[in-house]
Amino acid sequence: MRSPSNQFITELTADQSPTLRLVQFIDGVSVPESMHHSGGAAAETEYIYGEAIRLGLSVQQSLNFLVVGLGLGYIEILISSLVCGQNISSFEIDSDLRNNFQNWISGSDEFKIYNEVCKSLKLDSEFVRQSFQKNKLILNAGLNLESKFTEKNHIICFDAFSAKTSGLLWTEEFLDYFILNACASDCIFTTYACTGLLKRVLVKHGFQLRPRAGFTGKRDSTLAVRGLFIKTYS
Ligand SMILES: C[S@@+](CC[C@H](N)C(=O)[O-])C[C@H]1O[C@@H](n2cnc3c(N)ncnc32)[C@H](O)[C@@H]1O
Repeated sequence: MRSPSNQFITELTADQSPTLRLVQFIDGVSVPESMHHSGGAAAETEYIYGEAIRLGLSVQQSLNFLVVGLGLGYIEILISSLVCGQNISSFEIDSDLRNNFQNWISGSDEFKIYNEVCKSLKLDSEFVRQSFQKNKLILNAGLNLESKFTEKNHIICFDAFSAKTSGLLWTEEFLDYFILNACASDCIFTTYACTGLLKRVLVKHGFQLRPRAGFTGKRDSTLAVRGLFIKTYS
């Protein structure tokens, strides 16, 4: 399968769903980073993000969604298949990933990998494309300390690369800025990662942490709730 960006190579994970691996060199040393757990890109997306999205929708139908890291679009595809008439803001630093995903939504079959992503999420790709016509997807460039947010968001799917690749996104300064500017007072924040700093910053901003195991073999992930979601998500 062809990769939609030449910064990445394609790989299959254990559940046969595709992922992309970043080919990068830091100080001349190869530091590859995969977008998903080798145990299954689709299964990991369902577990870390799908459950939080569904729980959010069970509390409130009208929600703004924000995804950090479009990648292959697993999370955006899942959200769009579940909602109608909602805002989905996605941030991605790689312009080829943004452009090729947009082209696929608009009907291009140049990169069949997006059809495979749908298939591995047990979704029909034509249904998914149509669902994007019924929602407002905004594909934004990479996040930084000057990023602007058009609205506050209720469901945050924070799927950034690890701190060794995307260091800024895991700093207290960035997380403070992001939570203050991008998160609604009623908010669910979910991510595969679980660091002391992230948990501390979330609590500082009024989130409550809900214990949640990591995806297949990883010790913990992070699920935090604020406002309306506190009483319904316990
Ligand atoms: C773990 S992958 C996301 C996987 C994706 N959610 C999916 O389902 O395929 C992290 C993504 O974040 C992107 N990224 C890196 N730095 C970023 C930044 N500053 N802002 C937004 N996205 C960034 C990477 O290019 C990569 O696509």
